[in-house]
Parts: sequence; structure tokens; C-alpha cells
Amino acid sequence: MARKLIDVSELQIERRKFEPVLPDILKNGAASVKPVEGKITQSVADQSKIKEIFKNIYGLPEITFKKGTNNAVVEKAVKVAVVLSGGQAPGGHNVIAGLFDGLKIANSKNTLIGYLGGPSGILENKYKVISEKLLCGYRNTGGFDFIQSGRTKIETPEQFCLTKNNLLMSNVDALVVVGGDDSNTNAAMIAEYLKKEKLDKCVVGVPKTIDGDLKNEYIETSFGFDTATKIYSELVGNICRDVNSAQKYWHFVRLMGRSASHIALEVGFKTQPNIVLIGEEILEKKMKIVKIVENIVDVIVKRSQADKNFGVVLVPEGLIEFIPEMKKLISALNDALAENANAVAGINSAAGKKEFICTKLPVELSDLMKSLPSGIASQLMLDRDPHGNVQVSLIETEKLLIEMVHKKLSELKKENKYRGKFSAITHFFGYEGRCGIPSNFDANYTYALGYNAAVLVLNGLTGYLSSVRSLALSPKRWECGGIPLTMMMNIERRRGKEKPVIQTALVDLNGSPFKEFVKNRDKWALSESYIFPGPIQYFGPADVTDMTTRTLKYEQSEK
Ligand code: FBP
Repeated sequence: MARKLIDVSELQIERRKFEPVLPDILKNGAASVKPVEGKITQSVADQSKIKEIFKNIYGLPEITFKKGTNNAVVEKAVKVAVVLSGGQAPGGHNVIAGLFDGLKIANSKNTLIGYLGGPSGILENKYKVISEKLLCGYRNTGGFDFIQSGRTKIETPEQFCLTKNNLLMSNVDALVVVGGDDSNTNAAMIAEYLKKEKLDKCVVGVPKTIDGDLKNEYIETSFGFDTATKIYSELVGNICRDVNSAQKYWHFVRLMGRSASHIALEVGFKTQPNIVLIGEEILEKKMKIVKIVENIVDVIVKRSQADKNFGVVLVPEGLIEFIPEMKKLISALNDALAENANAVAGINSAAGKKEFICTKLPVELSDLMKSLPSGIASQLMLDRDPHGNVQVSLIETEKLLIEMVHKKLSELKKENKYRGKFSAITHFFGYEGRCGIPSNFDANYTYALGYNAAVLVLNGLTGYLSSVRSLALSPKRWECGGIPLTMMMNIERRRGKEKPVIQTALVDLNGSPFKEFVKNRDKWALSESYIFPGPIQYFGPADVTDMTTRTLKYEQSEK
């Protein structure tokens, strides 16, 4: 008899039964939560410029939720829209589920719509009405496929006007933007615009990104970081075991994370490979690329002297932006490409583009550009994303490093200073982790963030980011509230222009996680201290299923 095919996996079926644990403060619904105002806030930098841009939502107070009676929020039915913005992160569907439940428990007539395909869905007014029937199959699942995502930036006066008109046309009272630093900057711009237009509509953000760089005192981590780093750690752990078994290759693993090296550091803790490069340290020490290569070569040579011609190197994908000379080159390229966009677009070959753009750079940067392998040079010239970021996921830094390491080792060989064998293999882990089935931590955290966002919008609070804190404690004890989006902003140069953006949190070189890493890295370099975390566990002992990241653990131990 033919086996019956099922359209979901056995794990999916079991995961549907998982019931996220709500923080105690939210568990009785919005009617029993009182927002309490804290101190008035300021932006992290460039206060006068940010205040000028966000005249209507600047300086809002922090909000903490306390127990209380708040019946006003459940009396009138509201219509809320949600949009998923930017790169995927595990748990996005649970944000929608938490938001949906928070709204429906407050008032069964509340409705939730989901804009399709990211912010472009707002501009094109494409959405689906979210019902339990549609949503139930997506609870506790990875991916953003329920309503998809996109990277469109809403920035022109026409786009803001269109956003307003579409929200008005669909009678939307509040918009929840689930995104990273750029998407939440966009959320703040929309909140400001709607307030300026005297519309009683609120906009609330939810901190999403696997990169882990949207964090501060009130946002302890962005969702998705936990699951994604667990998936990468499983893969890197397996590679570590492979190198130790075959003992013949050096694996260079580039890990996603944009500029920040949080992912590389976390995966480093979980697997203890031989080398973990941290972009932020390279920037602080103003290390040239030659120096980075020398450091890697030093470990390779020392290991080879013990007959260990193998090892694992973790390379954060944003490394290239932290190497001083590359940083200067990228910044000059950003301006040159923005100023000469049409001319560059008119040139067909990569070599021609490179030759042309070199004429627009200062001499020393033009020389550097010419000295780069053609692949890397072309990758540096690729289109910036709609927010003006270099698409570091497309730059194969690990190949550049291997090429330079090879060259250096050959020189050492000629000088009789190296007798080993260097055979390198590359990997890039990024997309593999972004849609994973959320870990228990992310399933709980995202559900709480969504539910918390519902409470913020029901209280008419606009210009806030959903904030769920004390994450190292059990979910019941998590604290909830909102933090003003403008509080996290500063001015940065994007596509040759100054723009307000949420400041991303890089690895803090004075923080406990980095210090812990420094204590251990020399040992990891020369030994095989590898750890094998294995796959995410969804069932079993709480020590395994509910553990948070090492980064969070070390950071919270500072408090
Ligand atoms: P967000 O900042 O939007 O969450 O995106 C995270 C990320 O996965 C980065 O780590 C990576 O550099 C980038 O997205 C890749 O972008 P794309 O999905 O457009 O290829």
C-alpha cells in the first residue's frame, strides 16, 4: 500500500501544540495592564538634529506596564495592521499570533490585517485579513511566508502620503512594523508623519533581526538571534567535529550579521573554534588587512608545528566594513556610486565599472581598489540596499582572507619558516538560519512581543518599540512596556546623505561577552576545545530546551 504523504512534518504537527508562556503582567489581557510613564527620553546622539526631524514624537517617556484596571482599552473595537519588514527572523509568525490574541482577547471585534510582501504592501494596499483559521497553521513556525516580507523603504513625500491614504481607506487605527534598525527607523518616520497630519493613528515597532544588533538597555535582544545562532552553532559544531576527524582542512566560515559580530561571537561561545574574528576589535585596534592575515597565519603555523594542519575560522560577514582602509574605501565608493549612478549603470562589464569608479576615488583608495581581487572589487560595487547599506552578505571576505593567507604561507615556506599543508574550504551560513523553527525562547519572546505591541496600540501609544525585558529570567517574570523609537536614533551617512537612523549596537569591547571570549581564545587557537551543540531541542529537559544565548547570559550577569 502506498504511504500517505503529509504536507507538514511530524515536528510541525507537535510544534503546533506548543503554548507560549506569557509574562504574568500580560496574562489577563490589556484591560488589566496600566501603562506607567517613566522619564522623558532623548536620542542617543545628535539630539538637536533628531528633535528637528521628529518634532511630534521626540522626547516621549519610557513606558512600563503595571497591573491595574484599564477598561477603556477594550470598549472600542480597533483595526490594526501588521507588516513584516527586512530579513526573515525565526518567530515572526508568533509576533502576529501574539498580536492577534492580544487584540481578540481585549475585544473580539478587534481586527488584524497583514500587509503583504513588506512595506510595499502598504503602498500597494495589498493585505489579508488575519483569522484564527488562517493563522493556526503558522503558530510556532519559522519563516515569514504567512504574509511575506520586503525591504522597500517608505521615504518620499508621495510614499508617506500614499501610506496615510491607504491606512485611511482601510480604516486602520494602528500599524505594527516588525523590523530591524532600518525598518523601525521607517516606523518612526511614519509615526511622525501621521502625527504631523493630526491623525489619531499609532505606529509601534517590534525588534526583529537575527543580527542581534538592535539592542540597548531596554531591548535586551532582537528576536531571531537565539534560534539563528543555535542553527549556525549546530553546523559549525559539526564542521569542528569533521576537521578533528579528518585533520586535513582549514574551514573558513563566514556568518551573517551585517556589520555587528554578535552572531560570530555567540557561535564562537557555543562551538569554541580555533579563530573567531571580531570586526569591532579590528576597528578599535585599527588593524590593517595584512595584520589580520598575519594573526591567522600565526595560528596556522603554530598548529602545523604540532602536526595540526586543520582548524576552523569564523568570519563575521561585516568584517570588511571594519578594516580601516576598506571602511574608507566603502564610504568613498558609497558617495562615488551615488553621484555617478547613471554613468555606472551604463557600463556593461565589471572591469569597466571598476576602471571608471577608480577615476572617481582619491588616489590611495583607487590604488587599493585596483589591488583587490576582481571578484571582491565587483562585490563592493554591487547596488546598496534600499536603506543605503552595503550588501555585505554578497561580499566573500572569507575567500579574500584565504587568498592572502595562502600567499603569506608560500612566502614563509620559501623562507623555511613553515612546513605545513594548507588546504582551505569556505562556507557562508546566513539564509540557513533565518527561517528556522523558533526555539522555545524565540517562540515565547516573539509571542510576548506581539501581545505587548497589542497593549501598546490599544493604549494609543505611538512611536514606541515593543519592549520585553529581564529575558534571562523565566518568561512569566519578563517585564513589559515600550521604549520611544527616537531614543535609539542618531544621524548616519547613507548614499552620500545624512539620515536619521536607529543606532545599531555593535559588540561592546568592554562588555562581559567579549571579555569572556578574550579569556578563552588563546586556548581555543592551539587546542581542539571544540563543543558540539547539536540541533535545537524542542522537547526534553528545560536546561536544553529553554537555554538562552551565552551573550544574553554574560550581559545579564553584569547587572
Ligand atoms: P535585517 O537587518 O533586515 O533583519 O536583515 C538581516 C540579514 O539577514 C543580514 O544578516 C544580512 O546581511 C541581510 O539580512 C541579507 O539581506 P537579504 O535578505 O536582502 O539578502
